Amino acid sequence: MAESNTDTKSSNQMWGGRFASGPDAIMEEINASIGFDKKLFAQDIRGSIAHATMLAHQGIISSDDKDKIVHGLNTILSEIESGNFEFSRQLEDIHMNVEARLATLIGPAAGRLHTARSRNDQVALDFRLWVKEELQKTEQMLTGLIAAFLDRAEEHAESVMPGFTHLQTAQPVTFGHHCMAYVEMFGRDRSRVRHAIEHLDESPIGAAALAGTGYPIDRHMTAKALGFREPTRNSIDTVSDRDFAIEFLSIAAITGMHLSRLAEEIVIWSTPQFGFVRLSDAFSTGSSIMPQKKNPDAAELVRAKTGRINGSLVALLTIMKGLPLAYSKDMQEDKEQVFDAAESLELAIAAMTGMVRDLTVNTARMKAAAGSGYSTATDLADWLVREAGLPFRDAHHVTGRAVALAESKGCDLAELPLSDLQAIHSAITDKVYDVLTVEASVASRKSFGGTAPSEVRKQIAFWRARN
Ligand code: ARG
Repeated sequence: MAESNTDTKSSNQMWGGRFASGPDAIMEEINASIGFDKKLFAQDIRGSIAHATMLAHQGIISSDDKDKIVHGLNTILSEIESGNFEFSRQLEDIHMNVEARLATLIGPAAGRLHTARSRNDQVALDFRLWVKEELQKTEQMLTGLIAAFLDRAEEHAESVMPGFTHLQTAQPVTFGHHCMAYVEMFGRDRSRVRHAIEHLDESPIGAAALAGTGYPIDRHMTAKALGFREPTRNSIDTVSDRDFAIEFLSIAAITGMHLSRLAEEIVIWSTPQFGFVRLSDAFSTGSSIMPQKKNPDAAELVRAKTGRINGSLVALLTIMKGLPLAYSKDMQEDKEQVFDAAESLELAIAAMTGMVRDLTVNTARMKAAAGSGYSTATDLADWLVREAGLPFRDAHHVTGRAVALAESKGCDLAELPLSDLQAIHSAITDKVYDVLTVEASVASRKSFGGTAPSEVRKQIAFWRARN
């Protein structure tokens, strides 16, 4: 698709009535949005077809003109799709590029299309349609990521790994349970996406410049034709509102934050020091100088994409925050932020879904790490509460002494001889060894939402049924 920029100084053919000369070259450059809003061509044409059809239905334009307009617009659609459309920067944006081409194709009837509408409601419509489709795509992609995690969780419902707080070994958990934590996060992201689709599902077209129109239009008809639930209810709000774009960016930022935490974990887990997972060749790179290396570049880039997405959110919030009602040209800057964030988010979800499906889990390594760092200390304290009737605070103290002793001997809690444990507290019997293994620790945590394999399987079943 070529872009022409012939520097004629004639006034604009769309709004040039009161202008004697054309814009300065710099004016043209700062004003034009065609370089990025050509992405909205399909939405623009769909919107125009719905608008023209409604105008004819209401007797505002003749059905003959409507037929010419619709035919012309379909021709333009295929020209753009096949790369045979010449975009012009002089014509500023996608709306005027399409309309000017329509005039060339069908003559004076083209001039009737813009009856009862403005570029203000037109761009609000095009962009809403685009964001709605992007949200629908995001919803599907998140469903794919959730499915990948559910499969891994099922496979590893019993695989023990260390659970961390402060990135210090805390208590044993299962890898399945850890995977399900991400299912919860991405599940919330997906419901945010669904709510956002509900919020934006109102048709802006017909709000016109800001005040509505005197023509007898039918906004319910266009809303229906364009797949919206209903028309928007306030014409001023309609052309000033970019909440739908900001909501998309907010969701992208939260999802990006979740993806980035996962990316960070993958980076840590795949180090030789942790060795919990191995990335497939498909999602890692080598080093040009160090032959032994396998780098988690994809995970690192997912982590980095969060920066771009957050930047877009802050940019659009800042663009919008001081604008008086209704439309101001500042709002033209909304699109690049959303397009860039959407591209980053799609890539990040796709890369993560691939990594989660592909990574090899080193269960032996995870289990060994789960048992180190006195991860079953809480189980010893709980045993003292349960079997010896100690208040938890006392049990905590006794256990602390056992950990200190094991540390001084350089062994695990389970390796301390009974005589040592009994010297710390006489109520301890050899039954205590049953709870000091990581498997026993994990299996005992059957509270709702806990890490016991039986509980994890219940949560997997819940999410499989939910979708
Ligand atoms: N290209 C413009 C935008 O993206 C279209 C709306 C222009 N409206 C106007 N009153 N100049 O916001």
